[in-house]
Amino acid sequence: MPALADSLADQIRPRLNGLQPRIALILGSGLSDFGDRIARPVFIPYADIKGFPLSTVAGHNGRLIAGYVEDKPVLCLQGRIHLYEGYSPQTIAEIVKTLKLLGIKTLILTNAAGSLHKEMTPGTLMLIQDHLNLSGFNPLIGPNDERFGPRFPNMNEVYAKSYRDLAAQIAHRLSIPLHSGTYCMLSGPSFETPAEVKMCRILGADANGMSTVPEAVAAVWCGLKVLGISALTNYCTGIEGGCPTHAETLQNAAAAASNLTSLLTHFIGELNE
Ligand code: HPA
Repeated sequence: MPALADSLADQIRPRLNGLQPRIALILGSGLSDFGDRIARPVFIPYADIKGFPLSTVAGHNGRLIAGYVEDKPVLCLQGRIHLYEGYSPQTIAEIVKTLKLLGIKTLILTNAAGSLHKEMTPGTLMLIQDHLNLSGFNPLIGPNDERFGPRFPNMNEVYAKSYRDLAAQIAHRLSIPLHSGTYCMLSGPSFETPAEVKMCRILGADANGMSTVPEAVAAVWCGLKVLGISALTNYCTGIEGGCPTHAETLQNAAAAASNLTSLLTHFIGELNE
């Protein structure tokens, strides 16, 4: 049965000017800079694509950018949608399915996240090793579209080990501080209470955020390889006196953006697949 993804992909394909990207990126809150570095860009506003879900959050542009990074064709989503905007997890999965239909093999996910450790200071980056899904939702709930993936996909290695290794090597070489840890997704939009922060730490989380997990789960289901990077934009509630605000997250996302852009540019350049 045709899904929203089929219609979105059919509208996007003819606008790519023959470009066949195998790498896509979804840029998180305040992290749209990378998109502005794409060479020979073709811009496709989400609003031009009938049925494309629109982001309602400050710090999120709403457009696709197709172009080149290190001479490799890429497709970049500058702006994402979140569960807390009222979108269903299945709608987020439709965006990932659209990328699959367009021929994407590698999905790079970035986000803004709150740090749960004193040593992981705001303005630095964290490589996502694994995640905890505390959002209360799974993007694969509902009828399974067998064209894309199995009913019960395993999540043994959501964030591909080979990608994590490559990103860590590059960060080391470029002297970019890169922490590594477990990203915990909560639905938001409220930030956590002190008790919730304590719970997340006990459960093994290293950073908290409100995105990425639905995209990552849907991506693995449909056979994409995933790299995930968090820009640590604040200390979570109560950590080092943390009292998060959206303004603080945008400010520190801007501080992290240049390291993130260098890391991603090198990563794409050195990706061998
Ligand atoms: N908690 C949850 N999500 C976030 C945070 C946070 O502290 N910072 C940025 N996104």
